[in-house]
Amino acid sequence: MQTNVIHPQACGQLAELPDESTHTVVTSPPFNLSYRPQRSKKFNLAGYGDTCPDRLPEPEYQDGQVAILDALGRVLAPDGSVFYNHKDRMVAGRTISPHEWLGRVKGLVLYQTITIDRGSSHNVDTVRLPPTTEYIYWLCKPGCRPRFNKSCRRWGLVWQVCPHFETAKINHPAPFALAVPLRCIMMSAPQASEVVLDPYAGSGTTAVAATILGQPYVGYEVNPDYVALAGRRIADARALWSRDQDRPETG
Ligand SMILES: C[S@@+](CC[C@H](N)C(=O)[O-])C[C@H]1O[C@@H](n2cnc3c(N)ncnc32)[C@H](O)[C@@H]1O
Repeated sequence: MQTNVIHPQACGQLAELPDESTHTVVTSPPFNLSYRPQRSKKFNLAGYGDTCPDRLPEPEYQDGQVAILDALGRVLAPDGSVFYNHKDRMVAGRTISPHEWLGRVKGLVLYQTITIDRGSSHNVDTVRLPPTTEYIYWLCKPGCRPRFNKSCRRWGLVWQVCPHFETAKINHPAPFALAVPLRCIMMSAPQASEVVLDPYAGSGTTAVAATILGQPYVGYEVNPDYVALAGRRIADARALWSRDQDRPETG
């Protein structure tokens, strides 16, 4: 299996990846929210572009998410972990929770739910409370126990991670704050050769985190501009990492 690559294509059924070839998945799919360009001096709130209009009929969207999660179950090692970022969305006047499709996935079960407290929201809708939380659904293979680095217990189940200022200059609408994939990979305790996968790689933050931690990664991304952006961010991370390796010890 080819590693340290962002495949410039849709993830599909992850056909390039053998069964049980991946130890850790950290991913955030498009949320099917029809992002439209918004005026903001500080943040890039444009959509993903023509390659991903992010505007499917909701049942079709949910079926697609079940299909990719089942494919992730196939490629996941028995003691591996999938960290799947999503949130409650208001669609046609009611809240849709990701639990509506997570319960239909056969290849993975829910192990724990981590809440990301983002502290603020882009949403300026005045008829409800501002949505400031997202979730990381920690999933594993049915009947299996994911490997876990016990020293991460102190992080608890609510992570206060406000991405806005860290990610504002990244030319992508929805990058992870680096702490999210770093923590997820560290929690799942991969051995040196074990692969980290992001089927919706975007600006490549999961691959950057894998690079910093010395893990091989694989990604998929449909938008060629984001593939190039991810490549630059990974190269920067690798350059910083090697510079650290070469730095003489001080003190
Ligand atoms: C929420 S963003 C991921 C952001 C990423 N976590 C980061 O840190 O930059 C989702 C990404 O999935 C991409 N995408 C949408 N459909 C896809 C598909 N079928 N296969 C691969 N990538 C896809 C979009 O272009 C978008 O960049």
